[in-house]
Amino acid sequence: MATDIASEMYGMRERAPRNRTLIVCKDEENSLMNQTMTLTTLSTPHQIEDKLIHQDLFDCIDYLPDQFVDLAIIDPPYNLTKQFAASKFAKTSSESYEIWLETWVSKFKRCLKETASLYVCCDWQSSKSVQTVLDRHFIIRSRITWEREKGRGANANWKNCSEDIWFCTVSNHYFFDVEAVKLKRKVIAPYRHSSGEPKDWEETTQGNYRLTHPSNLWTDISIPFWSMPENTDHPTQKPEKLIAKLILASSRPRDFVFDPFFGSGTTCVVAKKLDRKFSGVEQESAYCQMAVKRLNRAASDRTIQGYLDGYFWERNSLADQKQATVTKPKTETVAGLFDE
Ligand SMILES: C[S@@+](CC[C@H](N)C(=O)[O-])C[C@H]1O[C@@H](n2cnc3c(N)ncnc32)[C@H](O)[C@@H]1O
Repeated sequence: MATDIASEMYGMRERAPRNRTLIVCKDEENSLMNQTMTLTTLSTPHQIEDKLIHQDLFDCIDYLPDQFVDLAIIDPPYNLTKQFAASKFAKTSSESYEIWLETWVSKFKRCLKETASLYVCCDWQSSKSVQTVLDRHFIIRSRITWEREKGRGANANWKNCSEDIWFCTVSNHYFFDVEAVKLKRKVIAPYRHSSGEPKDWEETTQGNYRLTHPSNLWTDISIPFWSMPENTDHPTQKPEKLIAKLILASSRPRDFVFDPFFGSGTTCVVAKKLDRKFSGVEQESAYCQMAVKRLNRAASDRTIQGYLDGYFWERNSLADQKQATVTKPKTETVAGLFDE
């Protein structure tokens, strides 16, 4: 009988019938690993395009191409003690964590195009170090706060259930498509013009909706749950909907999206679903296998939960999630390169 990696790693026996967590079986491991690569010499963008690099970032960072990244989505280990498959990231002082960040940020910088954007995820404790390092190298444009919902309750403190995502650009010349990330909200007070026409909202057979500008406070994205097909056993997996917002706002189709700590592969999977080029690095083979399997699935299933017909829908307002498919971005976009 095939054993899945999670059963071995986490000692699980059986999963509930409705549990849709991705499983990698023992007999798939080799063929999944064969679909990854390692770098031993300087690479070209074409060589790593749509491929996953299985390596310690510090061993391959000098072999990544120059100036190939349009958008970097970076979700490094936070300054917490955390087991990532066979490796443990150990909490350290803020000063040491800052040095660790500086070591790879300063090297990774040469891989970014002059027009590139980057997003760096962190929690409140590591946010200060992340901000300090990013400020040294880039133009910081915003800090998104994501209400992560799930968090451990504390008896003598506030439950920690938010994360930060720092948004930076290399220069003042960068791409941002606000139209692609507008939120479709149900209208609570449907005002009308005297002519009877809806004022700033749309009347549809499925209900009344308004398109709103996205803010830097994100409260409508849940972490992946065991009942969601995107779920894996990675301990800190990001939701596809969250990554889709970043990719749609800050890249165009066929742009190159890169993730130097891809984990279960969320950035690469969403990039593929949204027709971007992608690559990334992960040192743990168990996570590489999850990522490759997700990428293979994405070839035939481009669904992103909460994103339908080119819009992000407020939670529970999507009439028929079962029909959810990714469609082409809207054509009337006013996105563009910004020069400040
Ligand atoms: C916060 S997780 C990323 C999760 C990912 N965003 C996802 O959605 O699954 C950070 C990842 O970095 C990996 N990692 C840590 N140090 C690394 C290194 N030096 N080189 C490559 N990967 C590393 C860990 O194994 C872990 O999977």
